[in-house]
Amino acid sequence: MRSYSLLASAKINLYLEIIGDRPDGYHELAMVLQSIDLADRIDLRAIGTDTIRVRCDHPQVPPDKNNLAYRAADLLAKQFPDALAKYGGVEIAIHKQIPVAAGLAGGSANAAAVLVGMDLLWQLGLTQSELQELGGTLGSDVPFCIAGGTALATGRGDKLSPLPDLGGFSVVLAKYRNLSISTAWAYQTYRQQFSSSYCAAEDLECRRERLHSGPMVGAIAQKDRSKIGQLLHNDLEKVALPVYPQVLQLREAFESAGVLGTMMSGSGPTVFALAESPEQAQQVLERVKSAIASPDLDFWVAQFSNTGIRIFSEENDLKAPIPRV
Ligand code: C5P
Repeated sequence: MRSYSLLASAKINLYLEIIGDRPDGYHELAMVLQSIDLADRIDLRAIGTDTIRVRCDHPQVPPDKNNLAYRAADLLAKQFPDALAKYGGVEIAIHKQIPVAAGLAGGSANAAAVLVGMDLLWQLGLTQSELQELGGTLGSDVPFCIAGGTALATGRGDKLSPLPDLGGFSVVLAKYRNLSISTAWAYQTYRQQFSSSYCAAEDLECRRERLHSGPMVGAIAQKDRSKIGQLLHNDLEKVALPVYPQVLQLREAFESAGVLGTMMSGSGPTVFALAESPEQAQQVLERVKSAIASPDLDFWVAQFSNTGIRIFSEENDLKAPIPRV
């Protein structure tokens, strides 16, 4: 039986602007998303039964329908019953490196890897845009996690325009181990506090005037690193930082550590900072670590990556197939 191991990249938001409400209950966004090489490994193995099994080495990751990776497999099983009958179910083993509920799209990246991997395992022959369309029904970040790289994301976050590759940036990330922020909470709280400034769905002029992502997109096109650092923006900081002063303190510590720029990623609570090189990133990490001497603070150093999902290994086990039961 075939098996695949895939690497699923985390993302950071270089830019996140909330434009208004959408008729589907979500928010209309303008975001610049960037993959980083902090990645989970997802092992997929065909099993003889027609079930979906999820295993994960992280206690906060549920092995059931609450897991987006499970839901991705379930979606394909429902869409392609013939493939399920032919190839059997799948075991999904998730080896977590990306922190959970951290604003880094870890769950979405896992779901993206399951879609890409099961397409191979079941020989479905789906195109990237077909996989992204399926992924969009699971979560707003899944389409980007399939493609990866650098992209402008509009709509719910699922309409993607690729941007030039931004190789060479290093990034330091920090997160309090026991702190997580619900994405739904962050957007709901934003709506409660700021919906009076939202543009109506049909008011295109208001939406055009409101949109400020242009300079960031321009800076990316010019690969102007210091400008990219200065233009980092995230509207969700307005709701998260007042409620979580430790995240604000972390952001201030990064600011004082000589970085190109620093920002909370997505709905938080991870804070990232951009650096010119892995060496500079390591120096920043040490400075922030000594400024905030908390045993609960985890750090990572990563590089910008131009891939979303990458096949890590592929095995064709020629032993007798596991019998169907
Ligand atoms: O799409 P996803 O499941 O990641 O979204 C989680 C929650 O974040 C949604 O239920 C919604 O409350 C909020 N959200 C939003 N607008 C978006 C994306 C997410 O309001 N564009």
